[in-house]
Amino acid sequence: MASETPEPLVVAIHGSPRRRGNTSTLLGEAVRGATEQGCRIVEFHLRDLKLSPCLEIYGCKKDGRCVIKDDFQKIYDSLDHAQGVILASPIFFYAVSAQTKILMDRCQSFWVRRHWLEKRPYDDTTWHRRGLFIAAAASQGQKLFDGALLSVRYFFRALDTELTDTLLCRGLDREDEAQHQPDQLAMAYLKGKELGALLAGKDAEQQ
Ligand SMILES: Cc1cc2nc3c(=O)[nH]c(=O)nc-3n(C[C@H](O)[C@H](O)[C@H](O)COP(=O)(O)O)c2cc1C
Repeated sequence: MASETPEPLVVAIHGSPRRRGNTSTLLGEAVRGATEQGCRIVEFHLRDLKLSPCLEIYGCKKDGRCVIKDDFQKIYDSLDHAQGVILASPIFFYAVSAQTKILMDRCQSFWVRRHWLEKRPYDDTTWHRRGLFIAAAASQGQKLFDGALLSVRYFFRALDTELTDTLLCRGLDREDEAQHQPDQLAMAYLKGKELGALLAGKDAEQQ
C-alpha cells in the first residue's frame, strides 16, 4: 500500500481569457476534488498576469531559469516545487488559448534544464510530477482536441510531468454553459479527486 504524502502541492493553471467561463468552472470542480484529498492548491489565472512570450534568447541556458523578469518567475517556482499540475484551457482554433501557449513556451526553460543542463535523454520517462489536462470546446468534431493534446503532452514532458489524465469537454460555448452540465462537472470533480488521491497516496475509491 502506498504511504500517504503530507499535503501534496498542485499547481492549477487557468488559461481562458474569460474569468468565469467554462474552463474556470471545470477547473474549479477539479480543484475542489483535489483539495478534498488533502492537496494544497496554488492557482494561476494567466489572463491576469504579466507574461511576455518566449523571446528565444536562451538566457535559461545558464541555470535553467528564464531571464525575463515578469510573473513567470512565480509560476516557475511553484511548478518546480509541485507534485501535481492541472492545466485548463479552452480550445481556440483547434489549439490551446494564446495565454496558455505563452506559458507553455516560457517553460522551455524547464526543457533546457532537463535535457541540456541535466543531460536527461529525450526518451526519459521517469516523472517527478503527475498532471491533468482539462479542455473546453464548443463543437463536436472527432479531431477537436488532437492539436492541443499533442502540445500538452510534450509540454508536460518538459515539466517532468506524466499526463495522467485528461478531461475533454465538447458542446460548451456560452460562458455559463458548463454550469448546466452535471455530467461534465461530476467528471471534473472526480478527475481532480483521483489526481489528488494519487498524489496523496490514497485510494480515491474509498474516500
Ligand atoms: C478565438 C476563438 C477560437 C475558438 N475556436 C474554437 C475551435 O476551434 N473549436 C471549438 O470547438 N470551439 C472554439 N471556440 C469556442 C470555445 O472553445 C468555447 O466557447 C469554450 O467553451 C470557451 O471556454 P471559456 O468559457 O473557458 O473561455 C473558439 C472561441 C474563440 C473565442
